[in-house]
Amino acid sequence: MNTVGYLEGESFELPMPDDFHVHFRQGGAMASYVQRHAASFGRAMAMPNTLPPLIDGPSIESYRSEILAALPRGSGFQALMTFKILPGMDKKAVQACAAAGVVAGKYYPSGATTHAGDGPRSFRQVEEVLEAMEALDLVLSIHGEAPQASTFDREKAFLPSLESLILRHPRLRIVLEHLSSAEAVSFVAGGPETLGATITAHHLLFTLDDMMGGNLDPHLFCKPVIKTEKDRRALLDVVFSGSRKFFFGSDSAPHERAVKEKAKAPGGVYSAPTALPALVSLFEKEGRLDVLPGFLSAFGADFYRLPRTSGRLRLVKKAWEVPQEMDGVVPMCANTRILWSLEPQ
Ligand code: NCD
Ligand code: ZN
Repeated sequence: MNTVGYLEGESFELPMPDDFHVHFRQGGAMASYVQRHAASFGRAMAMPNTLPPLIDGPSIESYRSEILAALPRGSGFQALMTFKILPGMDKKAVQACAAAGVVAGKYYPSGATTHAGDGPRSFRQVEEVLEAMEALDLVLSIHGEAPQASTFDREKAFLPSLESLILRHPRLRIVLEHLSSAEAVSFVAGGPETLGATITAHHLLFTLDDMMGGNLDPHLFCKPVIKTEKDRRALLDVVFSGSRKFFFGSDSAPHERAVKEKAKAPGGVYSAPTALPALVSLFEKEGRLDVLPGFLSAFGADFYRLPRTSGRLRLVKKAWEVPQEMDGVVPMCANTRILWSLEPQ
């Protein structure tokens, strides 16, 4: 890889990227979301905030089959499964999810985001689940926002409860999802080896000014909310540091265009179609293409103790206009020009 910069028409290869956080949804549009994902990623971890949620062997297995059924013949794409941690779950329920092949359990604080009204109110409320996960060596994936705090402070306000959780469960591997603030970056960087984090493309690319500095752009509205330039810089700097604790999770979360463009628009950025080309453009501009293979294709697999993906993905420096709508959704970077394209596989 040339780390200085590329000319129009030049290309390079990455080991097939992983995405450790995606929402594939359900129903009619799901197949196109999955196919779109498989064009960019070799493997992706499917979030369990479906309706009804993924909470037992049958729901996990049938969701995995639906994902795989959407793939084109011969696709090597792999779906990593998760279950949703709910109050009242016991050790047996966790063992059943483990037997269905999950790699992680997802903790959504009650009311923190889309379809999280049924989540626990504290870690204490699901202590039996956490003990079982620690014993089974399942990763705890966390939406780290305290819903009772003010929007902008929710991630920071969540950190003290995470700190005591880590002390109570020193062997439990934990991923703090979609980091958005400088405080969370320092917390994870200073935490034990058992603590890692995912970072999205949109939190690396945008700030609050992009979302609402001019007219409101509901398509950049997500949980946790995109923050300031200082926060964005802290995220970029920690990725540039090459720390193995931080890896890519797109949090691609499509909501139909009509739903996003009316009052009470839900959070979620549909980044799957543009995340990789947009990240390559950003990292090229920053002169740091060298850190991309670790961030996209190695550190997450190592944290989850999974084999690295096989295969490669070629990116070409060929500009394209991102359409206003893809799969019925307005994608990240819609109506803008991205300098890099994916070479079709
Ligand atoms: C996600 C969704 O829509 O499912 N929304 C979001 O704003 N990121 C849920 C989540 O990960 O918070
Ligand atoms: Zn998410």
